[in-house]
Amino acid sequence: MPKNRKHRLVVLGGRKGGSKGAWGRVWLVGAGPGDPDLLTVKALKALRDADVVVHDGLVSDAILDLAPAEARRISVAKRKSRHSYAQDEINRMLVAFAQEGLEVVRLKGGDPFIFGRGGEELEACRAAGVECLVVPGVTAALAASASAGAPLTHRGSAQAVTFVTGHAAAGAEPDLDWASLARANQTVVIYMGLSAAPAIAGRLMGAGRDAATPALVVENASRPDETRLVTTLGGLTEAAAGLSGPALLIVGEAMSLAQASAPAAAEFVSLLSAKA
Ligand SMILES: C[S@@+](CC[C@H](N)C(=O)[O-])C[C@H]1O[C@@H](n2cnc3c(N)ncnc32)[C@H](O)[C@@H]1O
Repeated sequence: MPKNRKHRLVVLGGRKGGSKGAWGRVWLVGAGPGDPDLLTVKALKALRDADVVVHDGLVSDAILDLAPAEARRISVAKRKSRHSYAQDEINRMLVAFAQEGLEVVRLKGGDPFIFGRGGEELEACRAAGVECLVVPGVTAALAASASAGAPLTHRGSAQAVTFVTGHAAAGAEPDLDWASLARANQTVVIYMGLSAAPAIAGRLMGAGRDAATPALVVENASRPDETRLVTTLGGLTEAAAGLSGPALLIVGEAMSLAQASAPAAAEFVSLLSAKA
């Protein structure tokens, strides 16, 4: 636990005072996968009206810069084995700021409700009687499939798509239905699966998924440093081995459409800017 933890829950001067009628709100906002152009208009509006932005580590500076200069920015970045704030501290911080009358934007990478612990923050607000609004974001899987040109569902080869986590609490293996995930003609997207790639590939193949099933690994999707590796289920371990940034493993027949050399997200941004 960092030193001075108690002193870090600083309460900012409230906008409207402390009585319940004057409480502010908590906005649980999805910041998307990194490219600022993938932020929703609603997210942008919420950010522009923020008194305080409580953000996690996957949110880029370009997006944080969209909040007013005077808005306080608080990083509650989590890393796999070193948490700068525990979840219950974040929950209490959000509630305390709102009770001070502040408009609180809780800015999370991707979508707040896809492996984002947004549900816990929503529950904490509800328990405290604080209004909480949710602004969805583009989850990493959508950006990864878009930039690789490989659809997550595809007529004839991907009738379903499933998002799973490769990382369970306390480092345990996630409790997944491998037999179901191993069935052909469906896409499986694994979040937080880089370090567990060998185990995940082994489980899928052990349950009967063909080692030749097309697969895609995307690191830093939609960011200028995006890396895409087109591989197979049998090659997943090797493809994941050299990567360390936020990455997705995507397995499924439709990944045969993936292009390692499709235009990078940064080039799409410049195309859009040129038309603006
Ligand atoms: C805690 S989860 C948060 C997911 C987020 N809420 C979302 O909807 O994308 C973090 C994981 O999401 C994936 N991820 C997030 N941003 C990514 C990106 N830009 N490129 C690839 N994977 C990403 C990685 O698997 C990372 O380990």
